[in-house]
Amino acid sequence: MTILVTGGAGFIGSNYVLDWLAQSDETVVNLDKLSYAGNLQNLASLQDNPRHVFVKGDIGDASLVPALLAQHQPRAVVNFAAESHVDRSIHGPGEFVQNNIVGTFQLLESVRSYWGALAAPAKSDFRFLHVSTDEVYGSLHKGDPAFTETHTYEPNSPYSASKAASDHLVRAWHHTYGLPVLTTNCSNNYGPYHFPEKLIPLVIVNALAGKTLPVYGDGQQIRDWLYVKDHCSAIRRVLEGGKPGETYNVGGWNEKANLDIVRTICGLLDSLKPRADGKPYADQIAFVTDRPGHDRRYAIDARKIERELGWKPAESFETGIAKTVAWYLSNQDWVANVQSGGYRDWVATQYGSAATAA
Ligand code: NAD
Ligand code: DAU
Repeated sequence: MTILVTGGAGFIGSNYVLDWLAQSDETVVNLDKLSYAGNLQNLASLQDNPRHVFVKGDIGDASLVPALLAQHQPRAVVNFAAESHVDRSIHGPGEFVQNNIVGTFQLLESVRSYWGALAAPAKSDFRFLHVSTDEVYGSLHKGDPAFTETHTYEPNSPYSASKAASDHLVRAWHHTYGLPVLTTNCSNNYGPYHFPEKLIPLVIVNALAGKTLPVYGDGQQIRDWLYVKDHCSAIRRVLEGGKPGETYNVGGWNEKANLDIVRTICGLLDSLKPRADGKPYADQIAFVTDRPGHDRRYAIDARKIERELGWKPAESFETGIAKTVAWYLSNQDWVANVQSGGYRDWVATQYGSAATAA
């Protein structure tokens, strides 16, 4: 059996591919266009693994995707592929509309055509799992109840609007065409291979480099943090037991203010890798101009997935952040390669034409 994973060279996707291959004997076809966020070095340990088939390409490619589906006959598609950074979406929303909305539309069309031609029982067993975000629900005030699956969609950034649009397409392809879809809406992930444009890896990397730790606005915005490997286990569980047409919220029950996150990381680094001058890393914190339209608070009510599918996170924030800081300290080469752009050369050297073959 085979599954097709899209966006499997990004942060969560690469963790998912590694996790999947370690937990099952199925093959993974990994389709990723290798945008700036796609890094095959994350998957270096799979280089000689015949169950990992990497294909460089776009989910919106209406020739490539049908050909891949016909060739590999996957029993499921797990769609991680998207532009994912809110700040980039504010500076350049066009890429988000193209990849997240048009790309998902075209992927759905390719999958619908493949699925429509499947015979029973493969047709009823097939699943299209769409990985989405809690940001589609908008922003909460202090004291508001956490987002449930029935919360209204109120996306505020170009990124979250593009993800909301893709969720609506996925829903419609189920309602209208009967495609067996599952959607997960997850909170902020953190852990290994997180690209250092996002808060947690940026703070770790900047702290070690002696740079400022930029905190937007007053630093009191709240996110609900989930260790990435817990997200992977949740997706596995939804794929296995989720009901087609349903959405499942995934969260870590870890609401934290940004400033507290930054201070926690500084404290861990103070113990694990003290500054040469003996001063605390927190001295590097700098309050900077706020993100336009910055959502104040996200919080996920993850009781449905626990009640119906028996999933809950294994890590607390304390255990997860300690593992994450330790991972970055022991993977300084990965950080250096990402920062220098060297991972792009590495792809060409290690994979050659395999990374560009359709
Ligand atoms: P990421 O930016 O690290 O990785 C995205 C990957 O998708 C990259 O490898 C990129 O090359 C690939 N990609 C982008 N557009 C593509 C296209 N058109 N065709 C093929 N590949 C394409 O993102 P991430 O943080 O790993 O997020 C993965 C998914 O999870 C996204 O859909 C995101 O919206 C969602 N999500 C992320 C978080 C989080 O905290 N990071 C939380 C909830 C949901
Ligand atoms: O909630 C899920 C979402 O989490 C995902 O859908 C997105 O793909 C993912 O990028 C993430 O979005 P955020 O905007 O919450 O993540 P980011 O790491 O960019 O920012 C986290 C918080 O930290 C946010 O309130 C903005 C703030 N921040 C971020 C950066 C990069 C800072 O204060 N300083 C910074 O330098």
